[in-house]
Amino acid sequence: MNYRTLGKTNFQVSEIGLGCWQLGNDFGPVEDSTAREILHTAATHGVTFFDTADVYGGGLSEERIGQWRKSLSEPPYIATKVGRDAALYPDGYSKDGIRKSLQASAKRLGVDVIDLAQLHCVPREVLFAGDILAWMEDLQQEGLIRHFGASVEMIDEALFAAEHPKLATLQVLFNMFRQDAIQSLFPVAEHNNVGIIVRLPLASGLLSGKMTQQHQFDANDHRYYNRDGAAFHVGETFNGIPYETGVALADEVKALLPEGQQLVDVALRWILDQPQVSSVIAGATKESQILRNTQASGLPSLSPELHQTLADFYVKNVRQHIRGGI
Ligand SMILES: NC(=O)c1ccc[n+]([C@@H]2O[C@H](COP(=O)([O-])OP(=O)(O)OC[C@H]3O[C@@H](n4cnc5c(N)ncnc54)[C@H](OP(=O)(O)O)[C@@H]3O)[C@@H](O)[C@H]2O)c1
Repeated sequence: MNYRTLGKTNFQVSEIGLGCWQLGNDFGPVEDSTAREILHTAATHGVTFFDTADVYGGGLSEERIGQWRKSLSEPPYIATKVGRDAALYPDGYSKDGIRKSLQASAKRLGVDVIDLAQLHCVPREVLFAGDILAWMEDLQQEGLIRHFGASVEMIDEALFAAEHPKLATLQVLFNMFRQDAIQSLFPVAEHNNVGIIVRLPLASGLLSGKMTQQHQFDANDHRYYNRDGAAFHVGETFNGIPYETGVALADEVKALLPEGQQLVDVALRWILDQPQVSSVIAGATKESQILRNTQASGLPSLSPELHQTLADFYVKNVRQHIRGGI
């Protein structure tokens, strides 16, 4: 596993991290024992950066991480998120409310100070009003959080947040099927020393290469109930691409890959080839997926020709299918 500096936090984090949304049972049920195995396997394979949120499973994901963390002599970096619980979202934001949410997260995680607290896709108008970033800075000064960042849906939101002098990280939607940030965001993030955390690296599994038109998802899985954005932002499920289109596009990309290269490895390596990225928080519902995903750190970079092919494919074939904006 290779490690990279995470923006202004100066944390040295594994370039493959672990997204822990699934530990809240939001990708279908995950047993306690499986959750622990997933966390343990990730750590064993060098993962030192874990991303969760207070609302994943109503706190279950944080609780599971907190329980596991207690057993460790060298705890990893844990990033959580604030701003989507019912007390705050969509229009109940206050510094005191955020403090209370973060205190509850700290308790579930079993920490006194949260390593990294990220605003969790707060409404655009709330972000752009600016107070909420100032409150996060105050909470940092109070000692409740070591650093703060923002997880956002849109590039213009990322660009706004990146100008805050204390913002340490940005968590963005970025993958082979959503490439715009390379030109529009990454140079600014680099200039401002803001670490990029990549979510949905596999476009909710589309880029794993295993999805088929016939695949059935569990009714509790967001890939069933939020497929077209019925529950939350459409971009968070299959990257905003209609499922059937996404499967067809993934099949087309497979045909462009050099002999012997698998889509899942190329998708992760493609992200790691972007030097501004600090950590790729791939989700995993099975131990075997962790093994595969962590291996991407040791793979050679993709060839410039393949990068060009994938850039062209995105512009010509994928971009127009992304719903919900970029
Ligand atoms: N608003 C926000 O801030 C926000 C929103 C979304 C996500 N996130 C964060 O980003 C993390 C990652 O996002 P995500 O889990 O939605 O998307 P993802 O990483 O693109 O996709 C994860 C899914 O891909 C499949 N997968 C993973 N590795 C695989 C492998 N090696 N082989 C085959 N399939 C594989 C699994 O699907 P199966 O379960 O079908 O096997 C897994 O559930 C989340 O856990 C969360 O921490 C944040």
